[in-house]
Amino acid sequence: MTGGIARTEATGGAMMTELVEWSSSIDDDAAFITHDLLGSAAHATMLGKTGVIPSAHAHTLADALLSLARTGGAEVPMQGEEDVHMAVEAYLTKTLGPDIAGRLHTARSRNDQVATDLRLFVRDRAASLLTETCALARALVERSVQEEDVTLAAYTHRQRAQPISAALLILAWASQLVRAGETMAFALDHVNELALGSGACSGSSLPIDRELTARLLGFPRVTINALDTVGDRDFALDFTWACARVLLALGKLSTDVVDFSTSEFGLVKLDGSVAAGSSMMPQKKNPDVFELVRGKSARGIANVTHMLTLVKGLASGYNRDQQEDRAALLSSPAVTAGALRAVTLALPHVRFDREACLRSVSDGFTQATDLAEALVKNGVPFREAYKAVGALVRLAQDGERPLRAVTLAEAQTVHASFDQPTLDVLDPARAVLAKESLGGSGPRALARQRAELGARISQLANQASAIPSHADLIAGIERELIT
Ligand code: ARG
Repeated sequence: MTGGIARTEATGGAMMTELVEWSSSIDDDAAFITHDLLGSAAHATMLGKTGVIPSAHAHTLADALLSLARTGGAEVPMQGEEDVHMAVEAYLTKTLGPDIAGRLHTARSRNDQVATDLRLFVRDRAASLLTETCALARALVERSVQEEDVTLAAYTHRQRAQPISAALLILAWASQLVRAGETMAFALDHVNELALGSGACSGSSLPIDRELTARLLGFPRVTINALDTVGDRDFALDFTWACARVLLALGKLSTDVVDFSTSEFGLVKLDGSVAAGSSMMPQKKNPDVFELVRGKSARGIANVTHMLTLVKGLASGYNRDQQEDRAALLSSPAVTAGALRAVTLALPHVRFDREACLRSVSDGFTQATDLAEALVKNGVPFREAYKAVGALVRLAQDGERPLRAVTLAEAQTVHASFDQPTLDVLDPARAVLAKESLGGSGPRALARQRAELGARISQLANQASAIPSHADLIAGIERELIT
């Protein structure tokens, strides 16, 4: 450890090397060195524009920082420093000299600096995860069109319940994913505020311009309160929660694929390209990718608990505990991006077995509710229709026949309102087509779901693509420097 920048005579001598090393965040901080450099370039530019430091010095600092940012900070030695902020300042001190480098930290603390770096990092990750989430949701919406004529059972309590189109199942996966995307969009909106200029805890007596820094970093707003800002990790909590929500959505889809690919369900088949084998059992075709998506979500969910536990009980202002946010902030986006990619790649290799799907509803029992609703259409009160169909089901079961083998005459002995059109709903495809209430499995209802999801996905994708790239930020700071 060289360190030393953040120590003065008042600090009271050199700290024990081992303790400095143990307290260091440098290994984790490397993930956001570019964000640190961009934040510093914007800060230096603002200090020059407001006359807080000489304009020539601001130019030299910003130019150096931007050129380091272009290569992702590759030249900055990270070893032996306490954190990324110290590493950058130490490097600038060596290359530009203390008279210039020593001005960069004016009106700034590592407390507002790390908050800024993390907000820029989370903003990038949230935008990219939102883009990936939208791409998968769109792929699901499109897939639902191809699979609309596949009829299978929907399950409640994991028991066959009612016949549906596979499109309803796929759009159910898409709906949950879109809600997770909306949670990510919330996190993206809330993280998108400038923390810099809060100083250590109470702002600065120098005439800084936070709005200018915000503009240079593409933040639409500045945070409200300096003391709150340096202690605030709500954005990290929201982000880990949003990641967990994406993982939970992928997990439910995965459970369906895992279950449906068993010989017991036999509703979907996995291509060899996504199935794993067994080292011992030659016949095995295992859904490992989908099991792993579910399994990896454990880390994403643990990260929410990590963040909640970390912020619980903290005092107002910055607390060094906050440095432990990185354990969650670095792993959540990595796990989530990996799972999104895996499902996006694997899903086209999951095929519905049309015949097997149809067999799952061809005994007619899953159409019992549709039959009762058909009687309701003939004017029978629902509870009476429900009981009549129950009796009909019993009659079929007693005769060990499927429901659709019951004759009209037999049905009429149970209830006089049964007629041929009523019994026609025992055809599962017809039953599916008849459910046109909003959110239902009928073709118009499905089209409406696609339109609604499509509109919401587009809105999310637009929000993600409005986040400026690093190249945009660099160009904007350069423009500010020459004007
Ligand atoms: N490494 C620290 C962190 O990540 C930077 C802020 C440290 N601030 C301080 N006053 N020691 O949180």
